[in-house]
Amino acid sequence: MKVFITGASSGIGEALAHEYAKRYKDKSIAIGLVSRNSERLQFLQRILETTYKIKCATYPLDVRDSAALASAAADFIQQHGTPNVVIANAGVSSGTLTEHVEDIAAFQAVMDINVLGLVHTFQPFIEVMRKAGQGQLVGIASVAGIRGLPGAGAYSASKAAAIAYLESLRVEMSHDNITVTTIAPGYIRTPMTNINSYKMPFLMDVDIAANKFVNAIENQRRFVVIPWQMGWVARLMRLIPPVLWDFLAKNAPHKSRTKVE
Ligand SMILES: NC(=O)c1ccc[n+]([C@@H]2O[C@H](COP(=O)([O-])OP(=O)(O)OC[C@H]3O[C@@H](n4cnc5c(N)ncnc54)[C@H](OP(=O)(O)O)[C@@H]3O)[C@@H](O)[C@H]2O)c1
Repeated sequence: MKVFITGASSGIGEALAHEYAKRYKDKSIAIGLVSRNSERLQFLQRILETTYKIKCATYPLDVRDSAALASAAADFIQQHGTPNVVIANAGVSSGTLTEHVEDIAAFQAVMDINVLGLVHTFQPFIEVMRKAGQGQLVGIASVAGIRGLPGAGAYSASKAAAIAYLESLRVEMSHDNITVTTIAPGYIRTPMTNINSYKMPFLMDVDIAANKFVNAIENQRRFVVIPWQMGWVARLMRLIPPVLWDFLAKNAPHKSRTKVE
């Protein structure tokens, strides 16, 4: 098994690396770990290699840098072969309000990382997967992409774009036996949500979530919301008309506005 994961230094990405290592430790696995934080990646690499006796490669880079991702992908393929699964998980979340000029930079960063980051991650793997006649591309979206959440215009827009982009890709790749899985998490306990002061319904521990994510990937799900309770919330959110959405969302708590780098 060969897996390439972005956003592996923290939260969901780190938990996914542990989950794959645990599941495949006796069957030979190589994991590519991507994020900007080199020290955290090396720390995770040491833990995974000593605990599970598996092979890891670390790639400290920014997913906005398509050339850096292309060379990381080339290195991973050369060292370990074509990955079975590529997970584009790196993402950022920040509150944004259009009326603040200083939030324009945050809009730009959130869209670049959460949307173009997916494209940059998958692009270098498509041709080799096509040649191999197999492969799976996984994108981590969010329930926040189902409807526009107040105070989170950039994040909601980025995740709505991610959902639509991943659907386009899924249909495109269906001719080549390359599976595309979209995972839309609800609330998962990670550094991204630890800063939220408001109530988060159906909040799930990250290790439990990672186990469910990998089950969904292995079952080749096209689109899945985790936890399942949020799946029903998402279905309802899709159905309700704009006038009702406005009424329900009007007083929803806002994520705090922070600088996005
Ligand atoms: N937690 C939730 O409840 C929840 C819900 C819905 C969706 N999600 C999505 O799940 C994904 C993971 O989130 P998380 O909760 O695990 O958050 P997290 O703990 O903050 O982890 C985010 C990861 O993305 C990496 N990252 C961020 N910007 C990057 C960049 N420009 N280049 C490379 N790596 C970058 C971070 O590493 P560095 O900072 O070291 O680069 C980190 O490893 C995100 O796409 C998020 O939107 C999370």
